[in-house]
Amino acid sequence: MALKKIVIYPDSVLREICEPVEPGEPLSRLLDDLAESMYANKGVGLAAPQIGVTSRVAIIDVDQRDGEPRLIELVNPEILSTADEVVEGDEGCLSFPGEFEKVRRFSRVTVKAMDRNGQAFELTAEGLLARALQHEIDHLDGVLFIDYLSRLKRSMMERRMKKAAKKAASSRS
Ligand code: NI
Repeated sequence: MALKKIVIYPDSVLREICEPVEPGEPLSRLLDDLAESMYANKGVGLAAPQIGVTSRVAIIDVDQRDGEPRLIELVNPEILSTADEVVEGDEGCLSFPGEFEKVRRFSRVTVKAMDRNGQAFELTAEGLLARALQHEIDHLDGVLFIDYLSRLKRSMMERRMKKAAKKAASSRS
């Protein structure tokens, strides 16, 4: 396992359409790197492009904050169906440090994916897990949570992030 640097917006890799992957050693290594990097940064989810890899791979653990880790590995995930109901909730992303905004998501989703051994499975989720699934699967198509915000909120966030990046750069020099 290796701790990877998290890619920060607006890095262009976050806008890439990721490629499907096959089981094997590189996939297992990628999943392990994602887990180590997510837990080190106290995230509840992480997608491969966030560590610079354009593969359709993501992980989620929404239970770790309650002290009960439950890692979900998603390889080539697809949303099969959703509830009609849409709910608003706070969302953040490790590629947008310190930023949280309300985002509207389907209240329930059913997802089809493969595990690291190529075994297909289906998962139906509500609540935070449903939100995380939609957020992480979006990442694999280059879609980011800011894409759901109003133009005003989005430009305010982009300005804050530019400022923070400048500050970080000047404190390093
Ligand atoms: Ni994210």
